Amino acid sequence: MSARAEVPWAEKYRPKTIDEVVGNPEAKKAFVAWLNAWLAGKTPEKKAALLYGPPGCGKTSLVHAAANQLGLELIEANASDVRTSEALKRRVLRAATEGSLSGARGKIILLDEVDGLNPREDAGGLDTILEIIRVSRHPVVLTANDPWDPRLRDLRNVCELIEFKKLGVREVTKVLADICRREGVQCDPSVLKAIAENSEGDLRAAINDLQAVAAGRRSVSLEDLEMLGYRAKQLSMFEVVRQVLTAKRPEAARAVLSMPSLDYEMLMQWLNENIPYQYSPSAVAIADAYDALSKADIMLARIKREQAWTLLPYALDLMTAGVASAREKPPFKFVKYSFPFKLRALSSTKDVREERLRIARAIARACHVSTRTALIEVVPYLKLIYEGDPQRGRKLVESLGVPGDAFARAFGVAVQERRAAAAAETRRGPSATRSARRRA
Ligand SMILES: Nc1ncnc2c1ncn2[C@@H]1O[C@H](COP(=O)(O)OP(=O)(O)OP(=O)(O)O)[C@@H](O)[C@H]1O
Ligand SMILES: [Mg+2]
Repeated sequence: MSARAEVPWAEKYRPKTIDEVVGNPEAKKAFVAWLNAWLAGKTPEKKAALLYGPPGCGKTSLVHAAANQLGLELIEANASDVRTSEALKRRVLRAATEGSLSGARGKIILLDEVDGLNPREDAGGLDTILEIIRVSRHPVVLTANDPWDPRLRDLRNVCELIEFKKLGVREVTKVLADICRREGVQCDPSVLKAIAENSEGDLRAAINDLQAVAAGRRSVSLEDLEMLGYRAKQLSMFEVVRQVLTAKRPEAARAVLSMPSLDYEMLMQWLNENIPYQYSPSAVAIADAYDALSKADIMLARIKREQAWTLLPYALDLMTAGVASAREKPPFKFVKYSFPFKLRALSSTKDVREERLRIARAIARACHVSTRTALIEVVPYLKLIYEGDPQRGRKLVESLGVPGDAFARAFGVAVQERRAAAAAETRRGPSATRSARRRA
C-alpha cells in the first residue's frame, strides 16, 4: 500500500538543526567547538574529527544537521562503499583541496563508516583517507561504530575522538512521539515504550519499527503491536528467531518451545521472513531451512483440518530443530531481523479491512445473506453499478443502510475516471450514429 512506497521515516525526520539531534550533549558540544575553530579560520590541532559510537545514535545526522544549519556544502562519501582508493581520491581529494563552488560558506568532508573499509579489497583506502586529511583545506569528519580496530591506529592519531553513547529509552520515545504527532498517528505510549526498549538505543531501528506498525494508520494500540509478535518485557520475537536460526545444536533451537507464551504461528511467519537474512549467502542452508519450514507448514494445516493435535510436537520440531539443522549454515553474524511482510501488510490495512467488514455486515443484514456472501457476491455488483452510474449506485447503497461515501472509500470505487469516460462516450455516441445514418 501507499505506506510501503513512502520514504523511510528515518530519512524524512533526519534532524535539520543541531538542536534537533537528541542526546549526547557532550559529544555535540565537542563537535561544534571543533567545527567553529575551523570556521573561525584556525586549523584545529586535530584536522579531522572521528565520531564513533553504536548504530543509529545520530553521528551522521549531527554532521548533516551542522552543515545545514551553518550553510556548509557537504561532500559525503561512504568509506566502505567507495570500493577502491582510486575512486575515493577522484571523488573527495579534489573537493578537499578546492574552495567551495556553490558559494556556500565552506565545506565539510564526511567520510562515513570508515570501520567498514575492507583492508583486503582496498589496501590503499586508509592511506588515501590519511592523505585527504593531510591536504584538506576543509574540516574532515569520519564516523565509525568501532574505532578500536588496530588497523585504524594511524587514523585515530590524527583525529579528535568524539564518543557517542547509546540513546536512552526516554530519548528514543521522545523522537518517536514527535514523529507520530507529525504523521497524525495516535500511538499509545505503551507502544512507543515497547519499541524504544526493543531498539536498544538504535533510533534508526526504532523509527523503522514505528513506520512498519504505524504508517497509514490513524491509531496504534499495544494490541496492534502484539499482532506483529512484538512483546514488551519478555523475550521478544527477535530473540526467539535469533535463537532458532543461530542454534549450534537442534536442542538449542527446540528450547524456545518451552516458553509459555510462544505463538508458533507467529514464529512461522517470522522465520519465513528472516531465514534468507541469516543464512545468506549459503543457498544450501536457505533451501534446507525452507524445506523444513514448509513441511512444518503442511503438517500444521493437516493437524488443524483433522484436529489431530497429538501430532503438534512433530510440526514444532520441524519448525525449530528442523530449520536449525540446515546444512552449510554460514558462521554466526549479527542480523537485524524484520517484521514478517504478511503481518505488516495485514496490520497496515487493518482499518480498511474493519471498515469493509462493517459495511458487508450491514449489507448482509439488509439482503438476508451471510457476510461472506455479501462480500463476495453483492459488493462487487454494487461497486460496478456505483462506478457506472454514481447517482444510482449511491441511492442503491444507501437503501441498504450504508452511507455512499463510506462505501466508495472502503471499496475504492473509481467514480472519477468512469464518469469522465461515460461522459466522453455519450459525446461520441450520438454523433457516431448520426454520421452512420448520413452514410446510410
Ligand atoms: N540523536 C538523534 N536525534 C534525532 N534523530 C536521530 C538521532 N539519531 C538517529 N536519529 C534518526 O535515526 C536515523 C539514523 O541516524 P544516523 O544516520 O545519524 O545514525 P548513525 O549514528 O550515523 O548510525 P550508523 O553508525 O549506523 O551510521 C536518522 O536519519 C534520524 O532519523
Ligand atoms: Mg552513520
